[in-house]
Amino acid sequence: MNRRNAPRASAKKMTGKDFQKKMHFFAYATDKTDNRFGLQIAWSRDGFSWNLFGDGFAWLSSPFDAGDTGRKFINPFVFRAGDGVFHCVYQTGCKDSRFAHASSKDLVHWSRQNIFRTNRSAVRNPVVEQTLNGFAVLFRDAEGKAWRTETSDWKRFSDATPEADFVDPRTTLALPNGTWTGVELEAEQAVFDALREDVAFRELYEQRMHQESMSEDPIRFRDLRPFSATLRIDASKSKDIGDMLLGIFYEDINQAGDGGLYAELIQNRDFEQGWDDPTGKRPEWSRKHAWRLEGEGTAFDIETATPIHANNEHYAVLTTETPGAKLVNEGFGGIVLRKGELYDFSLFVRAVEGPGALKIRLAEQGRVLAETEVRQDKPEWIRTKLTLTASDDAERAELEILSLEPGKVALDMISLFPRKTYKERENGLRADLVRTLKALKPRFMRFPGGCVAHGDYLENTYHWKNTIGPLEARKQMPNRWGYHQSMGLGYYEYFLLCEDLECEPLPVMHCGVTCQFPFGQDAVPMDEMPEVVQEYLDLIEFANGPADSGWGAVRAQLGHPEPFRLKYVGVGNEEQITDAFEERFRMIFDALKEKHPEIVVVGTAGPFIRGTDYVEGWDIARRIGLPIIDEHYYVRPGWFIHHQDFYDKYPRDCGTKIYAGEYAAHRPDRRAVVETALAEAMHLINVERNGDLVKMTSYAPLFAKVGYAQWNPDLIYFTNSEVLPTPGYEVQKLFGCNSGSEYLANALQTPSGLDDAARIRVAASVVRDPKSGDMILKFANLLPVTVSVNVEGAADGDAVRTILSGSPDDEKAALVEEIPLPDPSECALPPYSFTVVRIRKGAESKR
Ligand code: AHR
Repeated sequence: MNRRNAPRASAKKMTGKDFQKKMHFFAYATDKTDNRFGLQIAWSRDGFSWNLFGDGFAWLSSPFDAGDTGRKFINPFVFRAGDGVFHCVYQTGCKDSRFAHASSKDLVHWSRQNIFRTNRSAVRNPVVEQTLNGFAVLFRDAEGKAWRTETSDWKRFSDATPEADFVDPRTTLALPNGTWTGVELEAEQAVFDALREDVAFRELYEQRMHQESMSEDPIRFRDLRPFSATLRIDASKSKDIGDMLLGIFYEDINQAGDGGLYAELIQNRDFEQGWDDPTGKRPEWSRKHAWRLEGEGTAFDIETATPIHANNEHYAVLTTETPGAKLVNEGFGGIVLRKGELYDFSLFVRAVEGPGALKIRLAEQGRVLAETEVRQDKPEWIRTKLTLTASDDAERAELEILSLEPGKVALDMISLFPRKTYKERENGLRADLVRTLKALKPRFMRFPGGCVAHGDYLENTYHWKNTIGPLEARKQMPNRWGYHQSMGLGYYEYFLLCEDLECEPLPVMHCGVTCQFPFGQDAVPMDEMPEVVQEYLDLIEFANGPADSGWGAVRAQLGHPEPFRLKYVGVGNEEQITDAFEERFRMIFDALKEKHPEIVVVGTAGPFIRGTDYVEGWDIARRIGLPIIDEHYYVRPGWFIHHQDFYDKYPRDCGTKIYAGEYAAHRPDRRAVVETALAEAMHLINVERNGDLVKMTSYAPLFAKVGYAQWNPDLIYFTNSEVLPTPGYEVQKLFGCNSGSEYLANALQTPSGLDDAARIRVAASVVRDPKSGDMILKFANLLPVTVSVNVEGAADGDAVRTILSGSPDDEKAALVEEIPLPDPSECALPPYSFTVVRIRKGAESKR
């Protein structure tokens, strides 16, 4: 090492004319939020008296989890290299043998982060030096010995070698918020200005996002009176926006699938709910979940010696000395039965000792609603199917299985479906929920995640091949949302559902790295990546290949010789954009481009619409010519009001289009109400105007079972017997049913002198549906007063209007559908409303 070549990170005290020129910075981390808060920066004009930025901001935090310690950001060291670039290295834990690195030109915007493993017991107090060939990172190990590792590119490091004279240039300073250890730096005023500007932006952003609420409207608009606005339409100017805007994103979160859309009524039918979890993170899981034994004389055990299938290893064994006890399944919060309706029961039985005689009952608190018997005395697994008819209604029935004679019997795949699934399909879906989806007229359906697609560990990454074929051979998994996913609703059922909904499938698969939340990104080793690529190619063959191709034949055998005509494939879901991500993503993307140029690939821009992943995701998209990029944003209603030009601002300089794959308005109380629905309506109006760029959208999440919601708000809530659509659902439906692929030039003008706060709360869009020729106007009025709109340039024809309105806090909106609008050039928008006006072409005007 040539220490004389290494520029010093700490500041020299300035004197004389230098005194006011440079700014002093102190880069440090505190123990705030259990050492997870991130990189903080204090500033000083003179190096003596220090100031904080606002109440404390973090400019960089750790996405890396060091085992069970969470994402710690400890002992950062910020170093400015000769080219002016800042490099930050930090500890990710106290026992972690890795250190993390990111760089920045201005201390505000940081590059993608990477983590490097050393050959030492731990990395503590890492320090950066510049060398002749690049950089060295010096650190201490768990025993306090000093080490040095070198790099020329921040991608590969040499093995650590002992360092004789390790000096840690960190200093300890008394700041207004405490005494902390960190690194002093000097930099020019421009660096300070960038930090200050960022803070000001973030403060304003936070203020708008968090304090903006319709509950303040009575004060904000106390002087506002109803007013008129003008909408000018120039139908001679139009742009093509396609017809894919409104889609749905299904993920098994909130019991959306098992216990929800998937009509199976027995919970943990396969006794697979459990996980030999190497991390011990889910100790409460049990193979007996949702089952209990009531009564004496019988033992209930889980065994694995002779499974039906290797993917379905566990099964129940009832050993009965004296009959009388019963094995009970509670269903998914009870089983709903309807008088006179048929229920298809099935199970696999193996008589281990004795005759294998069972009574099967559906009962609610002692009231037997259906009953039958199963006798199976064979020593091998045999599937038995029976039909039960409910003698009465029940809201919380249970399934009971009684051994009728002494002996030992093995049971597995114990299943009960209502006969009335959607289209009465075997292994089918809940008819009311499918109808609710169909009413949205979705153009596409994204599946199976979300985070379910990539899993939180490599062990629970979703693999499509595990989800097709006989149910007993499917590989169940503990899903990313912490519950057992039976895979009964697998890829084949998904493709059938897309056909039923008349929409395009948009499968999203993992791209070789796991979710960045909550445990940090893990990656499939590169030598195993060809298998990941093959998963994609095989899925395309399964969906589109001829019935005599390898995977096409599997599809045909399952009952669908015709191809599913898959056009879109999503690669990854909001991953952290690291080098590991990019390498794997590129490998899949290149293979798809080469082998299936007809497939439209959808990539990812990370979980937020700002920050490093977003910038880096877009950077990759531009470089490789990605057709569509998936953006996610869960934001306050105020964000939608204050970012109406969000997409107008996007450059149109590259071919990449946008899929807003997950978005929703989140109030602090996370309720789905009229306020959130109207914010989303306003957003979709603005998206429609940008339909040349934003081609697809899907609200998220789609479903939540009441009492099981892990994530709020959701679009459609449901119980075991009811569907409870939200006001946001009605908005989506109105967009789905009133789309048009031609956007017509239009401009909304409010009276001059109207307060800005009122002006920005009214929005309009105009489309034409070339199939019907209808002109469709949409208006959002997020104000507590009526706005009368004079429409200039409306088409001639009969007009109807649909109005959704309510008080901001209402969970149910009033919906008045398709009432005649005698004169579409005059349209009154009620307070807090979303209005759709459809002017029918061809219908003779009565005006
Ligand atoms: O929609 C819920 C979750 O939000 C999705 O799984 C994930 O992609 C996002 O973080």
